[in-house]
Amino acid sequence: MAEIAPSILAADFANLQRDVEMLNASSAGYIHVDIMDGMFVPNISFGLPVCEAIHKHAKKPLDVHLMIEQPDRYFEAFKKAGASCLTVHYEACPHLHRTIQHIKELGMSAGVALNPHTPVEVLTEILGDVSLVLIMSVNPGFGGQKFIENTYKKIAKLNSLREESGYSFQIEVDGGVNQQNAPLLVREGVDILVAGSFVFSSPNPIETIAQLKNS
Ligand code: DX5
Ligand code: ZN
Repeated sequence: MAEIAPSILAADFANLQRDVEMLNASSAGYIHVDIMDGMFVPNISFGLPVCEAIHKHAKKPLDVHLMIEQPDRYFEAFKKAGASCLTVHYEACPHLHRTIQHIKELGMSAGVALNPHTPVEVLTEILGDVSLVLIMSVNPGFGGQKFIENTYKKIAKLNSLREESGYSFQIEVDGGVNQQNAPLLVREGVDILVAGSFVFSSPNPIETIAQLKNS
């Protein structure tokens, strides 16, 4: 069993309210909101007004994934726009400890994300401070990419670090998640599966979310 965080990046932006209401009616635990700045990643998704609009209709907590440079500049604004959890990239934060404390001081859960090439060991000294570690299973920037197989090994390592340390952060995986890899990811220790195109391109997204949840 895992929690599902459908990525709104794969929704129909011209029918955002309809798609958020569909997620409200589903067994999704969160709504995953991908923010891209065209600098940290080569793509621009959407920003604060869209996050606020999603929040207006959402009955599930917003899990906001910041793929942006110098993310600290926007924490207050994302809090106001309805974020429950803010995840920053390790690769974008030279003062990660301060950044994580800043998110928590604002009353949000703090997460840290790792790009596919970044080893989990770099987080050893911060694992006690975060609620969530997001393992990217594609290079961030686009939905609909192919899952990177090395991810299983990374999740297993992170799960061992969690067991050894006794910390209680959740493990989230993001990118290329589908019905085939979901059970394997859960077996390695994943708590939250992010799924964009697999959910939104399926004929019955509510049913697909329920199936993924049973992985
Ligand atoms: C990629 C984003 C993902 C993306 C996942 O940069 O962080 O959240 O929306 O989409 P799929 O599930 O289509 O790979
Ligand atoms: Zn994401």
